[in-house]
Amino acid sequence: MSGLFITLEGGDGVGKSTQAALLETWLTEQGQTVVRTREPGGTDLGAEIRTMVLHRRGHIAPRAEALLYAADRAHHVSTLVRPALERGEVVLQDRYLDSSVAYQGAGRVLGGDEIRDLSLWAAEGLLPDLTVLLDLDETASRARLDSDAKEYDRLEAEAADFHARVRRAFLALADAEPERFLVIDATRSCDDIAAVIQARVRELLG
Ligand code: TYD
Repeated sequence: MSGLFITLEGGDGVGKSTQAALLETWLTEQGQTVVRTREPGGTDLGAEIRTMVLHRRGHIAPRAEALLYAADRAHHVSTLVRPALERGEVVLQDRYLDSSVAYQGAGRVLGGDEIRDLSLWAAEGLLPDLTVLLDLDETASRARLDSDAKEYDRLEAEAADFHARVRRAFLALADAEPERFLVIDATRSCDDIAAVIQARVRELLG
């Protein structure tokens, strides 16, 4: 595949959407065709799954939750991400399989390896060329979410120790695959973070 697959990861409230928007603008200025998307919810089917998994009232069994994210991923990769990469485009995606490993594997304590295998099966082995991890202490990300004053979704509403496990899992994933990950301290200024990301993406574009 000739395209470039970039994912943004991190806890809730770390500023992924802001950075995705800045990177999309910059890539377009560089003459790239960009497909900006997200999980869960990057397709019509995914939007329905997103509503279920994030906004359904009541309990969802952890394994059912993991399978819903995997189902969203399977459809998204097959119908949107892979075709764009095959056309040689840049896919810029908010969250991917590392979120499943962190949230379902470590947050819900289902086991990271199993969740990774499930996601890889769903995505037929597709891994990003670059994963930007915006790292922020869970207390600081909670403060940012609170200042947004919107209603929490099911994951955001989890307790502090859940979010601490998620953060540790993301950092462990980055340690295990230093080539794929770019870890950035999310307390840095928005412009600084954007510049660090652009520098790495410029190398990848050659
Ligand atoms: P996100 O779209 O980043 O939330 P928002 O738009 O509200 O900022 O992500 C939705 C939530 O889904 C987030 O709390 C993380 C969670 N999530 C998982 O638990 N597993 C996954 O595989 C993915 C992709 C997301």
